[in-house]
Amino acid sequence: MDVQHILDSLQTRSLGKKIYSFETIDSTNTFARTLDEAAGPHGTLVVAEEQTAGKGRQGRRWQSQKGKNLLFSVILKIPFAEERIRVLPFAAALAAADGIEHLTLASIECKWPNDLLIGRKKVAGMLIEAASQNENETSLILGIGVNVNQTEFPEEIRNTATSLRQEGAREVDRTLLLCAILEELEHRIEQLRQFSPQILLDEWKQRTSMFGARIVLTEHDVVTTAIAVDVAPTGALVIEDPKGRRREVLAGDVTLGS
Ligand code: BTN
Repeated sequence: MDVQHILDSLQTRSLGKKIYSFETIDSTNTFARTLDEAAGPHGTLVVAEEQTAGKGRQGRRWQSQKGKNLLFSVILKIPFAEERIRVLPFAAALAAADGIEHLTLASIECKWPNDLLIGRKKVAGMLIEAASQNENETSLILGIGVNVNQTEFPEEIRNTATSLRQEGAREVDRTLLLCAILEELEHRIEQLRQFSPQILLDEWKQRTSMFGARIVLTEHDVVTTAIAVDVAPTGALVIEDPKGRRREVLAGDVTLGS
C-alpha cells in the first residue's frame, strides 16, 4: 500500500505517523514486535499486501490473497492500569466495526473474543500480542486482518469466512478503510482513557448476538457446549454449562451453534 496515500488520508494525532509498508512479509505482527523491541514509537503502523506466515489466534494461520485485503499491525504503548488494558480488545473490535460501517453498508456483529462477523461469517479478526511492559506503560501489538475484496476462500474456511465484497460492497478502497479504522481506534483508546471501561464493554455487548445462544467452546483442545451469557468486567466470557453452572472463560474459541 502506498505510504504517502495513507499519510495524506489519515486524520489521527498519534496512530500511523510512522509507517512500514511491505509487498510481502512473514507477518506484520512479527515485524512490529521486532520494531517494538528497538523502541518503535506508539502508533507505528506496519501494513502488507501479503503475509507468508500470517498469524491467527490460538496458533492458527491467517490466510489472505495477495493485494485483496487489509493486513496491518499497530504498536500501542498504553499507560493504563490492568483493568483498562483488558478492555482494549473490545475497544479495537468496536473501532474496526465502526470503520467498516463508515465505508460500506455492512452491518457488523462482534463475536467474543475479537472477531467481526457479517451474518454468521467472519469478515475480520484481531490478534493482540503483549510486547513489553515497564512500570508506566504496556506495549502491545494489535494486528488486524479484514477480508475486503477477496471473493474466493480456501475450502477449509469457505463456509465460515466472508469479505466485504462478498457481502455486497463495491470494491472498497483499502487505504480509506485502514484510515477509518485507525481514526476510530484512536477515538476508542481516548474513550478508554477518559471513561469507565464498562461503557465500552456495554457497547460491545450491544453489538453481539451471542448471548442466549448455544455455543461450542474450545479451550486447550477441550470442546464443550454451553450457553453464552455475558462478558465480565475482566473481558472473560461468562458461560452456562448444560447443568446450569456458570463460569468465566478467559481464553478460548467459540463457534456459534444453531
Ligand atoms: C484471528 O482471528 O485468528 C486473528 C487474525 C489476525 C490476523 C492479522 S493480519 C495482520 C496481523 N498480522 C498477523 O500475522 N496477524 C494479524
